Amino acid sequence: MIPVTDLSRQYKIIKNELARAMNAVFAHSNYILGEEVKTLEKEMARYLKVKYAVGVNSGTDALFLALKACGIKEGDEVITSAFGYIASVLGISFCGAKPVLVDADPRDYNINTALIEKAITKKTKAILPVHLYGQTCNMPEIMRIARKYRLKVVEDCAQAHGARQQMTAGLRPADVGRQGWQMAGAMGEAGCFSFYPTKNLGAYGDGGMVVTNNAKIYQQLLLLRDYGRRDRYQFAIKGYNSRLDELQAAVLRVKLKHLDSWNRQRRSLAQLYREKSTNRKIVLPMELPGRRHVYHLFVARSQQRKKLQGYLAKNGVGTAIHYPIPLHLQEAYRDLGYQRGDFPQAEKLAREVVSLPLYPELRPAEVKMICRKLAEYKE
Ligand SMILES: Cc1ncc(COP(=O)(O)O)c(C=O)c1O
Repeated sequence: MIPVTDLSRQYKIIKNELARAMNAVFAHSNYILGEEVKTLEKEMARYLKVKYAVGVNSGTDALFLALKACGIKEGDEVITSAFGYIASVLGISFCGAKPVLVDADPRDYNINTALIEKAITKKTKAILPVHLYGQTCNMPEIMRIARKYRLKVVEDCAQAHGARQQMTAGLRPADVGRQGWQMAGAMGEAGCFSFYPTKNLGAYGDGGMVVTNNAKIYQQLLLLRDYGRRDRYQFAIKGYNSRLDELQAAVLRVKLKHLDSWNRQRRSLAQLYREKSTNRKIVLPMELPGRRHVYHLFVARSQQRKKLQGYLAKNGVGTAIHYPIPLHLQEAYRDLGYQRGDFPQAEKLAREVVSLPLYPELRPAEVKMICRKLAEYKE
């Protein structure tokens, strides 16, 4: 069976590097907010070309604390996509704010930027673009809207470590220096990462990070993640315990060195799928112009998904669904008052998406075998 994801293959390749890094932590025995976290923060900031990075204990907390540090509070509204993972909207809810959903764009599965302005009200304070599956949203357009309505932009980069976006359209003269390709996470007021084990940059447990160029947001995040602590026994605000731990930071420092080459592997396997897959009934994901997709997931679409999944399983190919229920139809968000039919594209995606195996250690021969099986498949 080719599993839809398989972390053990990666572990076998880097296990010696990991053992050295983890043993160093055991040797110094400083497990919370030590040198590993501090160094990882510097390395991530350098990688993403931002000024500051703050390690926290999950991607969900990264979103919550970033929004909170941006001043999002009860009574505010934050716009995001109706299609995605629950954590993005939970981050908004934890601030006491209301998620306002917008339908998805079937080309990139991200928020449909043409519908954002209609969703803006006097209460709107921020837009939360989710770079789903590893491809950035239409960020030039999102930044243009945010400037026009003076909204904050907090990027959900949980699935987009190393993704890039060309920021040429819609720039003001003041932004000329920022033209060209920018990293996911570096475009908005803050960028939020998850280090959940299966992510393109994954820990061996939970972890997350917020990055920003804004010194005030950075200072606020340092307080928020560590009980509001200013000094050993002085607490400036009522903060949280949301820290990335040293062992996870040590693991992530090892893996960060491999991230670009792993992302290149993912991209070349995606290209191989595109070259070898000939079945027109199965729609493969697109990389839109001006985006550098990092294929956290390789999400195809089929109108007869269940049948396709059964067929692939019988032929030794694992699949998964990311995600079967759009956010407006989740029981947890019934209070928002949305109905079936409100976001037709999100509902269609939820019915049709199917993730095929794709990870850096997947062998090209395995992709070719999957494509042969897809070619023989009849709906
Ligand atoms: C798009 C998205 N946002 C946020 C999260 C939350 O991250 P975590 O699981 O680290 O809390 C995830 C991942 O699980 C995600 O896929």
